Amino acid sequence: MTDDPATDRDVDPADRAAPDTLDGVWDDAWTRLEAAVRRRQHPYRTCVVATSGDDGVDARTVVLRGADRAAGTLRFHTDRRSAKLAQLLHDRRVALVFYGDGVQVRARGIASVQADDARVDSAWAATPAMSRRCYLTAAAPGTPNITPTSGLPPELAMLRPPLELTARGREAFAVVAVRVQSIDWLHLAARGQRRAGFSRDGERWMATWMVP
Ligand SMILES: Cc1cc2nc3c(=O)[nH]c(=O)nc-3n(C[C@H](O)[C@H](O)[C@H](O)COP(=O)(O)O)c2cc1C
Repeated sequence: MTDDPATDRDVDPADRAAPDTLDGVWDDAWTRLEAAVRRRQHPYRTCVVATSGDDGVDARTVVLRGADRAAGTLRFHTDRRSAKLAQLLHDRRVALVFYGDGVQVRARGIASVQADDARVDSAWAATPAMSRRCYLTAAAPGTPNITPTSGLPPELAMLRPPLELTARGREAFAVVAVRVQSIDWLHLAARGQRRAGFSRDGERWMATWMVP
C-alpha cells in the first residue's frame, strides 16, 4: 500500500488499466524490463540494486543492460573494483527495484559476476567510449581523494576520448548477471492497487495475486 501523496501524484487520473490475469502481469513486467534495455528514456532503464556486505546493507543506481524473460535473468555492468562487487562476492543475494508509469517491479535473485569470458568481451566491444571512461579511473571507485576528482588521467578527461585510449578499461569491466528467483509487481491506481508475485519453482514459475 502507499499513502504517500508524492506517489499519488504519479497515479493517472484515468486510472490506467492493470492486467487482469497473472500471465498478463508476467508479460507486463518483462515487457517493461526488455523495453528498458533498448530505450534509454524508459523509466526502468535505471534501477536500484541492493546488496549486503560485512558492514550491512547497501544500495545504488545502475543501468539495466540485459533482460531475458525465458531465462529469468537481468544484467548490469559495473567496475570489478567496486564495493558492490565485493559485497556480491560476500553474499550473492541481490534485489533490483524498478519504478515508472505507476508500476513497481522488485526482482530478487542470485548474482554471478562475469569478468573474463567472451560474453563480457562482446559487452565491452559494444560499450561506447563515453561509458568506457567509467572503467578507466586509476584508483578503484570509492577511493578517497584530497581534492574533487574524476579519477581519470588527463588524456581521458575529455568528453569523448578516442576509442583506442579506452581499451585498458576492459580489465575493470564486469558484467553482473542476476538469476531472478522472485518478482514482486505492484500497480498503483486510485481505484485500487494490484499486486502479484512470482517465484521460481525449479524450471517453472509459481504466481499469485497478493493484497497490495
Ligand atoms: C543514473 C545512474 C546510473 C548509474 N549506472 C551505473 C551502472 O550501470 N553501473 C555501476 O557500476 N554504477 C552505476 N552508477 C553509479 C552507482 O550508482 C554507484 O555510485 C557506483 O557504482 C559505486 O557504487 P558501489 O560503491 O556501491 O559499488 C550509476 C549512477 C547513476 C546516478
